[in-house]
Amino acid sequence: MTERVLNIKYQCLHPSCQVFCKKGEFVISESFFNELSTATDDEDTFKSPPGACRMGFSQQYRLIAVQEEGAETEAEGEAARESLGADDPLTMLKAEHQEVLKKLDTLEYQVRKRDLEGLWVTTSMIENDILLHSIKKEEDVLFPVVEKKIPAGANLMPIMKEDHVEFISILHGFRYALQDGEILDGILNTLIVNLRNHIKKEDEEFFHIVDEHLDNEDRKRIAEGMRKMEEEHVPLEPGDRKDKGLSPYSEDRKKLDAEIAALKSISSVGGEEMCCGGH
Ligand SMILES: [Fe+2]
Ligand SMILES: [Fe+2]
Repeated sequence: MTERVLNIKYQCLHPSCQVFCKKGEFVISESFFNELSTATDDEDTFKSPPGACRMGFSQQYRLIAVQEEGAETEAEGEAARESLGADDPLTMLKAEHQEVLKKLDTLEYQVRKRDLEGLWVTTSMIENDILLHSIKKEEDVLFPVVEKKIPAGANLMPIMKEDHVEFISILHGFRYALQDGEILDGILNTLIVNLRNHIKKEDEEFFHIVDEHLDNEDRKRIAEGMRKMEEEHVPLEPGDRKDKGLSPYSEDRKKLDAEIAALKSISSVGGEEMCCGGH
């Protein structure tokens, strides 16, 4: 079942936010909002979601108004989507998610079999999907349109982008170990869980909001841009796992370490850190 999406109007309670982000609004799923509400003591305040505060930290926000998002525009979005059928860009992206989910099932099977070569190929296919689907089609084609048409949806895009970077870093770390004949079970498990959650977040929250605001012209333009990306994309080849000289993963351990360090810092943003030393 699709979750309710809320439009939240807030007032930031941090004293330094008088000028820039004193008041604002954003769109969020009901369950995530409930989670943020329970993180503060007062009933009319809640913890700011990641990316909402311009300082990049957690703030206390006072709730001014809450409304279910897009109830009146839902019918229009649905009509536009149905008229395009399989050529609707969101329908296309959702279909690609299903293909990725199948590959995650394959990964689980290959891990049980300790199939190094199979994992080597499947992780390369998933990285290729992330480059084409997530970076080129979502970030480069869809997101700029969302940015212009749906200002209230803007706080969801940094979360999606952080996820994409995290997946690539995890894949690099995992594949590097595969070259040494090692299977990092914990890392792979994190990837599988996070990627499934990411797809759920897009299908049920993000695309749901976008769907209500795109007209027929937007959709055709986005679909066209995605097709172009697909035509120009050079697929990533897995290469020979044992031939470390050929692999881009073995050559730059430093770069990999930096990616993992960045990954760790990303996963702490919007977590337990509080702004300006504990406000
Ligand atoms: Fe996606
Ligand atoms: Fe994505």
